[in-house]
Amino acid sequence: MRAAERLAQLDCSTLELEVVESALIVTVQQPDTLNALAPAVIADLRSVFELLRNSLGRLEEGSAETSFDWSIRGVVLTGGGERAFVAGADIGALTVMDEAAVRGYAGEVHELFEWLETLPVPVIAAVNGYALGGGSELALACDMIYASERAKFGQPEVALGIIPGFGGCVRLQRAISPGAAREMIYTGRHVSAVEAQTLGLVQQVLPTIPDLREAALETIRTLSQQSPAAVQSAKLTLNAVRGIDVSDGIAIELGAFASRFGSPDMCEGTEAFLQKRPARFPGA
Ligand code: COA
Repeated sequence: MRAAERLAQLDCSTLELEVVESALIVTVQQPDTLNALAPAVIADLRSVFELLRNSLGRLEEGSAETSFDWSIRGVVLTGGGERAFVAGADIGALTVMDEAAVRGYAGEVHELFEWLETLPVPVIAAVNGYALGGGSELALACDMIYASERAKFGQPEVALGIIPGFGGCVRLQRAISPGAAREMIYTGRHVSAVEAQTLGLVQQVLPTIPDLREAALETIRTLSQQSPAAVQSAKLTLNAVRGIDVSDGIAIELGAFASRFGSPDMCEGTEAFLQKRPARFPGA
């Protein structure tokens, strides 16, 4: 059974899952808390991304042939309603946690974010409203961030007497400049979609939420025409070389580049080009 079919069997009451062409749209649906990341939301997101990471790019479950599961070529992560993407960690849930409990909660979130970063397919955060605290940190763990004009980004933890704890101190200053990240974290101020684009946090700003969804789907449609194994290799290589020395990065890139040679997708992609026809990638 392929990932797209196995997803239908998951019981995730805090999320809405929709497969559109080869994209999976994951919508956080917690209207009472502006889609805050309560432990139940984290548990549901972990179920979805654990299933995807254990299926995509692998031999299909139960398949007699050597066919690779690329039934999902990209994931769009968004928030239900018009007001929020994710308004942060669930503040009510935080108030009953002690240091040991919050380490456990944050540990589960960190592992989930690592699964997003290492998923065999790209993940696009479609930020439709507030992306505050853990919401901004969730978007930062995605490959790309698209935003609607009404989106607002912020790390307001200092107003609660805490600091970003889901990777914000690490990923925000890497995504924008260290000074811009410090300004956001020390003041907690909200940054508009347009300013976030100027800072390099957001790749596309769209006028409406339907435009936002369509832009994310269009990107997944376009990358779905390419070799899935090459897109996966590019993602893992980009992760591996981030923030390291150029010469060390080049060595890693060369290893990944050379290992594509002779692969089924390279044979098909080059042959299709020379025969002037669309490629039909085996996915390896
Ligand atoms: N955790 C739990 N509940 C939250 C929440 C969060 N992170 N963010 C919003 N909510 C709840 C509010 O308590 C409110 O619940 P109520 O209707 O039962 O009173 C509801 O969502 C709507 O929020 P409200 O504050 O009334 O809306 P607003 O439009 O005035 O403000 C925000 C919207 C997002 C600016 C504001 O809710 C906010 O600052 N939220 C907290 C953001 C934050 O600090 N995140 C980091 C947490 S570590």
